[in-house]
Amino acid sequence: MSVDTVPAALAGPLTLVHAADHTPGWWRSAVIYQVYPRSFRDLNGDGVGDLAGITAELPQLAELDVDAVWLSPFYRSPQRDAGYDVSDYCDVDPLFGTLDDFDAMMAEAKRLGLRLIVDLVPNHCSDQHAAFRAALAAPADGPERDMFIFRDGLGESGELPPNNWQSHFGGPAWTRITEPDGTAGQWYLHLFDSSQPDFNWDNDAVHAEFERVLRFWLDRGVSGFRVDVAHALVKAPGLPAWGGRADGNSSDGFPGHEAPMFGQPALHDIYRAWRRILAEYGPDRILCAEANVDPLPRLADWVRPDEMHQAFNFPYLHAGLDPHRMRRVVTESLNALDAVGAPTTWVLSNHDVVRHATRFGYDGPAPRDGDGIGPADPQPNAELGRARAAAATMFMLGLPGGAYLYQGEELGLPDGIDIPDHQRQDPTFGRTGGERLGRDGCRVPLPWRAGEPNNGFGSGADPWLPQPESFGALARDTQAASPSSHLNLYRSMLALRRQLRLGEGSLAWLEDWSTDTSLGYLNGTVAVLMNVGHEPLDLPAGTVLLRSSAAAAMNAPEHQLGSGETVWLEIYIEDTES
Ligand code: BGC
Repeated sequence: MSVDTVPAALAGPLTLVHAADHTPGWWRSAVIYQVYPRSFRDLNGDGVGDLAGITAELPQLAELDVDAVWLSPFYRSPQRDAGYDVSDYCDVDPLFGTLDDFDAMMAEAKRLGLRLIVDLVPNHCSDQHAAFRAALAAPADGPERDMFIFRDGLGESGELPPNNWQSHFGGPAWTRITEPDGTAGQWYLHLFDSSQPDFNWDNDAVHAEFERVLRFWLDRGVSGFRVDVAHALVKAPGLPAWGGRADGNSSDGFPGHEAPMFGQPALHDIYRAWRRILAEYGPDRILCAEANVDPLPRLADWVRPDEMHQAFNFPYLHAGLDPHRMRRVVTESLNALDAVGAPTTWVLSNHDVVRHATRFGYDGPAPRDGDGIGPADPQPNAELGRARAAAATMFMLGLPGGAYLYQGEELGLPDGIDIPDHQRQDPTFGRTGGERLGRDGCRVPLPWRAGEPNNGFGSGADPWLPQPESFGALARDTQAASPSSHLNLYRSMLALRRQLRLGEGSLAWLEDWSTDTSLGYLNGTVAVLMNVGHEPLDLPAGTVLLRSSAAAAMNAPEHQLGSGETVWLEIYIEDTES
């Protein structure tokens, strides 16, 4: 639709931001569902999810009608950072199963018409990886050390770290080793935990190793890779000191492109090379960047035509429910990515942030990502959070582009809050002496079947993190049986989104809805209207396709949009030319 063909039912100005886009490419409008294997489904009863459990429940995801599944790491790993510390990139950790289990999962996904995307962790490995063990055993000037970032320390006897960089999880980003002869030795860089040494991407051998890893999984049939901390692989020459926040936390205040550990130009040649490898396998394999970049328009650098296919949109996740901020982020994202011909992606939750059903349960600011919520913190309003989460998701799924969902959000799950300290596993908790609780709250195992042990997550050992009491009522089978449940709302949203091809659609802001308490846009003939204020708002004429909240709908008459509610409304366009 052009700016001049304003629907008759919608008096008021429109601002067109994005035209409908039917460029081929399944990922351009796909809904991709993140599975966090540790917490999805435990079939062997050891308290931790496994690949066989994922295979068993894949039909539920097909039924939800997502296009693809992204799996967080299941590779061999000492699990110091829940699998993001990889000791063998081409094998399955026994905790999760075997390569045969992976192949069985792949076959089942194929049968169901679901694509699988796996996580690639190229910035760092585990300190138990053979290459790092070889580096520790080698002399300081040996080629083995050059796979990583080893430096002599500062100070009289090298007792001080080589620079002032801080680990993302707290504390210094350097750890000193003991040389093979027993003397105190060099330091190695780890932007994350000390058990996660950073690779040296100035070394061709590192490039060769990851090209091998890409081919290994492509040969097994994966549709692509989510690339972990894709903005960090290359560090600025000389590793200059950095006066800003050095941890690069993914919330607001991200240090931006000047930080010497992020966004270096040489990164882009790596992704161009990877894209060429994927292209050898056909046009359907994709790369998605987990790239925290600031300011937002720079995200476009990751998805230029010869680089990655997608990048996560974290500014959208962090926009909260502030209509002005949401509008700015959506507009900037579409403008920046349209300029390079790349699709946008939208996301509200993942395994690193407080779930959006919990974040939106606060009227004031929600806790910072990575800090988590404990019993002693201000508590969210669970009902309010869930209702607002539904509204926010309905706003998101109406937007053109792709979207990522995080397992359990379709059930409206909240974060786990009552997790005893001794059960917390996120390295952030240990590295900050408990000051930051970390990300365990959003990683609590899923409830499948009410009334079964562990709500059907697994019938053996207790889950690796305790499930909150509310998980019983939120179990998938209970929700499946209730037409007005969160789960059934997700099913309806995803079915309609596909049917109306909203992911390939357009976006024009409805100026009359752009206020302090509401936001609305038109995607084709569907108006998506959100009310974050306390008063109901009158709806324009049109057919209500879906409302986010049965409860709010009951409080507001048919022709009104309740507080904390979103609606998809079919608008009739008057043919002005006839
Ligand atoms: C992942 C985290 C992980 C970190 C280090 C992040 O971006 O999403 O879960 O701890 O990378 O690999």
